[in-house]
Amino acid sequence: MTHLEIRKKFLDFFSAKGGPATGGKHVIVPSSSLVPDDPSVLLTTAGMQQFKPYFTGDADPIKDFDSKNTISIQKSFRTSDIDEVGDETHLTFFEMLGNFSFGGYFKKDAITWAHEFITKELELEIDYITVFGGADRAGEKISYDEESEKVWRSLGISDIHVMGLEDNFWGPTGNEGPCGPTTEIYAGGTEIWNIVFNEFYCKPDGSLENLKTPGVDTGMGLERLLAVLQKKNNIFETDLFVPLMAKMSKDLPIRVRRIIADHVRATVFLLSDGVRPSNKETGYILRRLIRRSATHAERYRFAPDFLEELAKTVMEIFESVYPELKKNRNEILNELRRELEKFSRTLKGGLRALDVMVKKKKGISGKEAFDLYQSYGLPPDVLGDVLKEKSLSFDPKEFEAEFKKHQNKSKEGQEKKFGGHGLILDTGELKAETLEEVKKVTRLHTATHLLQAALRKIFGPEVRQMGSDITARRLRFDFTFGHKLTIDELKKVEDLVNDVIAKDLSVIMEEMDYRKAKEQGALSFFKLKYPKRVKVYSVEEESGVFSRELCGGPHVKKTGEIEKFIITKEESVASGVRRIRATVEP
Ligand code: ALA
Repeated sequence: MTHLEIRKKFLDFFSAKGGPATGGKHVIVPSSSLVPDDPSVLLTTAGMQQFKPYFTGDADPIKDFDSKNTISIQKSFRTSDIDEVGDETHLTFFEMLGNFSFGGYFKKDAITWAHEFITKELELEIDYITVFGGADRAGEKISYDEESEKVWRSLGISDIHVMGLEDNFWGPTGNEGPCGPTTEIYAGGTEIWNIVFNEFYCKPDGSLENLKTPGVDTGMGLERLLAVLQKKNNIFETDLFVPLMAKMSKDLPIRVRRIIADHVRATVFLLSDGVRPSNKETGYILRRLIRRSATHAERYRFAPDFLEELAKTVMEIFESVYPELKKNRNEILNELRRELEKFSRTLKGGLRALDVMVKKKKGISGKEAFDLYQSYGLPPDVLGDVLKEKSLSFDPKEFEAEFKKHQNKSKEGQEKKFGGHGLILDTGELKAETLEEVKKVTRLHTATHLLQAALRKIFGPEVRQMGSDITARRLRFDFTFGHKLTIDELKKVEDLVNDVIAKDLSVIMEEMDYRKAKEQGALSFFKLKYPKRVKVYSVEEESGVFSRELCGGPHVKKTGEIEKFIITKEESVASGVRRIRATVEP
């Protein structure tokens, strides 16, 4: 059975399950982005991520899906597994098959269907299953899941292992969220399916509240399931990986081949979902994946374009499943090439410096590791890989501490650059030294919102903010866009902004829940993490909303205060990313 066949089997099976008594048929929901719409997590780690609000009652599944039950095959990413990659089962990027119920069905149906799917549809034998045996958690008693055990026994399964919190209790993604006991199915010698019964809401302090309507959240790793179904020794021998592994010589260490295969897959999908290499958050995760692959490619003398070729193979494997890969193909390859080129300038020197350090001292300190990162861009994972082969290591905590110290220092440096008197306004995006400058950057800031709105009105919602920086002299706005803007196009944008200024519309601020803001279509910036309560700034015309963004301010009260908006320059900053510089006058 190929990966395409198993995808179809899963979706077909659950599409036919469920009826009026269980809250409706299962509705197929496409995978959401790897960059979630949830400020409490960096990346999507499970299928339930996009459904969190349905479990908590913040959103209504009937309204959105016309059913209480859904299924998906979700792109997922687990940073926590990055050090494990290279063995037979761990990946950073993976896909998860899942069925979900938000108050439709519960333990009996979830377990019965899972059993039917595994034993009848896939004709697999279940090795054994696990259930939650109850525990004290943060001073609260959670009871033994006898009901699940009973259902399994009624299906003829008697090899049942009773487990504790560690193994059979699903915790929230982020610092709070739905959680509850799980039951897990083992087949082919590995755990293949995790079935979660969300009964509680875990709060940040660790305490539990009962959810109004309990729900079902299941997750079956596609790669592991394939390995079992295709009777392979490990995930890297399945049809999802063979085309990648076949491109690397068997003479290379198996661990290295697996790391490269995993990291290039993850890189393609992160780039496709809009992540760009940087030194922060998701951008830093992506950078580490690319640089780690590049270091191995360099050490084992792969052809210079090898990683790009491998990225193309990834896209071929997935192109019928994720059409966006085709759409984003050039951008993905260009971004990958750019990061590889940048890194190649320092990589060789870095490896040489590392060699010298190791020879001299039989090991390096966390601080030295950080210095190598700082001077040559060698990320900690890469250093770890190289040192491991020599049975050496460094202290990751010491590295982290240096990293933090450095980040603080560069923040201070940034502030110093803006003058001896210091900044009286510094939001990261906006900087001003005097009250006069605060007034100017405030006008430029609102103008930036109008500029983004105008770009999207004229060119469509593909335009997405990639960066914004405002000083008293100018605004600078980066956004996704496929080509150089013509003079006519720039004029159109400038005119539209000036029209809205001339109408002297009110700029209205409202505070609301993040979720509500997103429902109202407020734009957010994917590189930022937002709190639960957010401020939303809107400019409305009679015909409807012109601009609506999540934003901390400050802004002018009326668009007329901006007076005159002038675009001064348009240029490229990265492939598929354009930059506009503009000022306001007087
Ligand atoms: N959310 C559960 C998991 O990811 C199903 O294992």
